[in-house]
Amino acid sequence: MTNEQYYSLIQPYTDAMNLILTRLDVLNHQAGDRDQAHPIHSITNRIKEKNSIENKLKKKHTDSSVHNARTLLKDIAGIRVICFFERDIRLLAGCLKKQSDLIVIREKDYITCPKPNGYRSYHLVVGVPIYHLDGMEYYPVEIQFRTISMDFWAAMEHRICYKSQPFNEMEMRSAFLQYSDILEKMEKSFEVYSENTLHLPG
Ligand code: GTP
Ligand code: MG
Repeated sequence: MTNEQYYSLIQPYTDAMNLILTRLDVLNHQAGDRDQAHPIHSITNRIKEKNSIENKLKKKHTDSSVHNARTLLKDIAGIRVICFFERDIRLLAGCLKKQSDLIVIREKDYITCPKPNGYRSYHLVVGVPIYHLDGMEYYPVEIQFRTISMDFWAAMEHRICYKSQPFNEMEMRSAFLQYSDILEKMEKSFEVYSENTLHLPG
């Protein structure tokens, strides 16, 4: 893939990602007006870099053509939405899924069914309609919804476990699983406190 091909590949994905970022912003304001507490803590987003696209296609045993990137990769555009509580995730994901111009391409609920290592997150790939001069096409945007505690765990796991071969692997794996559980319990108790709080105006 040449640099020119890469930049023209990512343009519509960037447009699709920006559209979803705006929709999330609107939902955040509206939920905040209604409940006096915003569901979103923070958002990050990224477009997959050229070498990451090429490496991922290599792992899939295909050549790094624009065609393969467009047909095989669903995470060229990625957004990570960090919420306070699980109910915020359900609210935002539910609202996005109801937006009639978007299509749901893939959904993975690692909150209801955590991964064996303890990873928890809700992944939604939506198709966003992008109108070209001569028609419309859907472009996928991967949205990862996490709470602050899920994100804390995932960031640590990524840093410590990813591409590492620790001496005490068994011990570490069981610790991560246990911490995932502890964090979930902490978050649930914060959620109960938050539901029993009277929000003051201002
Ligand atoms: P990828 O090839 O990595 O995109 O995985 P996938 O196509 O099976 O999709 P999945 O929805 O399972 O995971 C996509 C993304 O979620 C990853 O790129 C990571 O950002 C995140 N993720 C998934 N599993 C883990 C995990 O065990 N630990 C951490 N830290 N992040 C994870
Ligand atoms: Mg990915």
